Amino acid sequence: MIRIAIQSKGRLSQDSQSYLKKCGLEFDIAGRKLLNQCTNQDVMLMCLRTADIPEYVKQGVADFGIVGQNTLIEKAQDCTVVKPLGFGHCCLKIAVPTLSPIKQLADLGGERIATAYPNILKNYLKQHAIRAAIIMLSGSLEIAPALHLADAICDLVQSGATLKANGLRAVWHVMDSQAVLIKSPNINTTPGFLL
Ligand code: PRP
Repeated sequence: MIRIAIQSKGRLSQDSQSYLKKCGLEFDIAGRKLLNQCTNQDVMLMCLRTADIPEYVKQGVADFGIVGQNTLIEKAQDCTVVKPLGFGHCCLKIAVPTLSPIKQLADLGGERIATAYPNILKNYLKQHAIRAAIIMLSGSLEIAPALHLADAICDLVQSGATLKANGLRAVWHVMDSQAVLIKSPNINTTPGFLL
């Protein structure tokens, strides 16, 4: 049995399922069933929260996983990237309110930045010798500046629509990301159908 962890809901969920179907796997993930056996191969699909996928794969509870590079780097887990998958392209960016006085990177010094990616942000700020307060949130970050919880956010941007709808402008590019196939340290070879 090969166990593959994919996102249960979210931006990579449908594309991950489409990718696995293109690989020849047959399955029907109906409703909220989180463990799904493929009907034509001895493969089990585990539908998980995206942030948990690197841990399941690292522990060998899942043999493979499909996850965003951003999540993998944030979690710093010891998983091998088998290959980039060419979907789920987005960027991690620092954004500020349209009328913010923050214009240069150095202006972030002493400010509060809300993010769901504290480790990536911490490294980025360190590289640029900036000391700022990091406020850890899990989602809907774009609301934090309007509610005066933060002066800036560091979040994923795909189309840019969420930033625009919330009166924010992206100012600094932290990293590019896309979906990648990862494998557990216990797995030596990747089955041909996944490649
Ligand atoms: C992600 C991300 C942004 C949004 C960006 O959130 O955190 O909020 O997508 O996409 P856009 O540039 O195409 O507007 P998601 O919808 O995954 O939910 P979340 O807020 O719970 O993280």
